[in-house]
Amino acid sequence: GTGRPTDLIIFGGTGDLAMRMLFPSLYFLEADGYLADDARIIGAARGDLSRDAFLDEVHKRLKSHIPKKYYDADVWDRFAQKVDYKSVDATDGSGFEALAAALRIRDGSEAVFYFSTAPRFYGDLCAQLKAHDLAGPQSRVVLEKPIGHDLTSCRAVNDAVGAVFPESRIYRIDHYLGKETVQNLIALRFANSLLEPLWNANGIEQVQITVSETVGVEGRWSYYNDSGALRDMLQNHLLQLLCLVAMEPPTSLDADAVRDEKLKVLRSLRPISKQENALKTVCGQYTAGAVDGKAVPGYFEEGEGESTTETFISLRADIDNWRWRGVPFYLRTGKRLPYRYSEIFIQFKDVPHSIFPEESNLTLQSNKLIIRLQPEETIKLLMMNKVPGLGRDGMKLQEVSLDLSMSDEARSRRRRIAYERLLLDVLNANSTLFVRRDETEAAWKWVDQIAEGWRELGQKPKPYAAGSWGPSASVALTERYGHSWHD
Ligand code: BG6
Repeated sequence: GTGRPTDLIIFGGTGDLAMRMLFPSLYFLEADGYLADDARIIGAARGDLSRDAFLDEVHKRLKSHIPKKYYDADVWDRFAQKVDYKSVDATDGSGFEALAAALRIRDGSEAVFYFSTAPRFYGDLCAQLKAHDLAGPQSRVVLEKPIGHDLTSCRAVNDAVGAVFPESRIYRIDHYLGKETVQNLIALRFANSLLEPLWNANGIEQVQITVSETVGVEGRWSYYNDSGALRDMLQNHLLQLLCLVAMEPPTSLDADAVRDEKLKVLRSLRPISKQENALKTVCGQYTAGAVDGKAVPGYFEEGEGESTTETFISLRADIDNWRWRGVPFYLRTGKRLPYRYSEIFIQFKDVPHSIFPEESNLTLQSNKLIIRLQPEETIKLLMMNKVPGLGRDGMKLQEVSLDLSMSDEARSRRRRIAYERLLLDVLNANSTLFVRRDETEAAWKWVDQIAEGWRELGQKPKPYAAGSWGPSASVALTERYGHSWHD
């Protein structure tokens, strides 16, 4: 394949994310010819594994994660030749000597260090890289979330990494930005002139961003219980989607041009005051129930006892700038909800005056743009149309859907893992789809004051049965402002 000669070192190389997402993504990049012939991928972790034992594990997990029809033994053989394993320990530095020696074998190549470990090791990892002379100008570092737990801890992580790598070589992953439809949103907004004049408080009634999951905490209780839905999902994925919907047109797709605009949105988010906290936010925690017709236990039966961690959050955000004055952005995410889907729902303003007979007014709907990221990737514009035929009163209305989704041809192709796009971008040193330090900090600042409001008001998550749309207070939240959730 073509591509820059790069060594990719994955710390946490035996971990779940590496096995489930990173190696399968790299395998597909190999299949499509994006990896340089002499690229190397080095899994690094504490375990004392041989290269063969590591490869066996990667192979086994890869085959269980990707559909059979996409597995090709020749591609695997080519890929496997590029993969190696090194045992390292960031806390005492053991193994870094050998890693450095392996990397020094080649001059002129670049190294990407991917941190897929618990974030508490990021500082140590950076210190070791520096001590072993591996953090030079030919290197980049990729950070997985969570970057901290609040603004203070986020700054500490950013400081520790920033002491070794300049910001331009730090790539903070938010895998939602690697999803095809999220990038398509950028095309939709800025490659068309039709929508832009309406894309503001005059044209848009409300925006909803929902990321609904059916899974529970999936054996990640101890991580999840320290985070909750606000920190695990809303601080990053949902706010990034909000930024892409709400940002001003950037001057180009350059990394900083795009990130400057996202940052402005984050800084324009109106803090939710303590008085408004109970009106504008709802948090919940699932109790036993049924999802997809299957009985599932409640949150704390899955874990280690009682907990006040929220597994559901919905809220109303307001963006204080000219474009969005008064337009509610409703955000909602939760575990153990009825369906797995993610979507951005944009409702335009009603027509100012209806000229249609009363019966048709019942069906007269405002226009809607629905961008689905999951499970299917579709973009639909809902518009009103006449029901064909004579009819007695001559005019009956119906909602029709303009399908702006990918072509059938594109849709029949394999759906890419979000990490493929992002890994390829890191290898090519393109950071447009990565999150800059000031963005993560602005997002934490906004999220912190919500959590603080909950704490001060003694707000505990409200119970909701697994398989429902969260606490009923969430329904009341949008209704308070004259809207309802698009389910
Ligand atoms: C991760 C969260 O960032 O995103 C998980 O930590 C969540 O809790 C996951 O399940 C959802 O990602 P996706 O791509 O499946 O929607």
